[in-house]
Amino acid sequence: MTAADPTQRPSLRSQRLNQITHEPHAKLDALVKAHAPFETQANFARFVVAQYLFQSELVSLYNDPELIAIVPDLAERCRAEAAKADLADLDTPIPGPVAGAVQRPSKAEALGWLFVSEGSKLGAAFLIKRAVGLGLSESFGARHLGEPAGGRAEGWKNFVRTLDGLAFSAEEEAAVDKGAIDAFNRFTVLLEQAYATAPEMA
Ligand code: HEM
Repeated sequence: MTAADPTQRPSLRSQRLNQITHEPHAKLDALVKAHAPFETQANFARFVVAQYLFQSELVSLYNDPELIAIVPDLAERCRAEAAKADLADLDTPIPGPVAGAVQRPSKAEALGWLFVSEGSKLGAAFLIKRAVGLGLSESFGARHLGEPAGGRAEGWKNFVRTLDGLAFSAEEEAAVDKGAIDAFNRFTVLLEQAYATAPEMA
């Protein structure tokens, strides 16, 4: 593997998406860590609030028949219910919706959002190890970070293979990029919101 060279245009769509989201990912990673989610269960619960909000905004995409026709196991990949169960485990109320959720994106734009949501399962492999230190697991409190059925790497490879195999117009290429960037921006907003609304701890 060679490091991404920003002067080279990647041939695969997924590689291009990796490249254009490299900086937003690094920023988000730093922001997540700045909130010290693994210091206490209360801090972790705020992270789960952000994950739940993000996942719940994507439920309609994960269940969209047109998208399921492209990614047959899409509905099973959704983690909104897992994040909801985590909130219950952590005695944290289900947050209300936050204005600004993605609305009726085009197919390609939706796939950009899903690329980010699915990609975040890779980082989750690292995050769940830290969550174990808080007494949590993929069956309690950190379900949404658990290994997907069929395996993390396999699930990702299949998604990427499908995404890379689609024939897109130039307009759709731009839309998938936009979806991926918007998804990172949205997660950032939701993360900030989740920590800003942290209930006062006694
Ligand atoms: C909402 C979206 C995302 C969030 C919140 C997120 C969060 C994180 C965090 C916090 C880490 C650091 C884990 C650690 O060092 O303990 C991480 C690592 C990672 N993430 Fe993401 N991520 C997201 C999207 C993505 C996407 C789209 C991809 C792939 C295309 C991806 C691939 C990875 C990989 C491979 C790692 C592990 C090693 C590395 O830092 O390169 N993530 N992620």
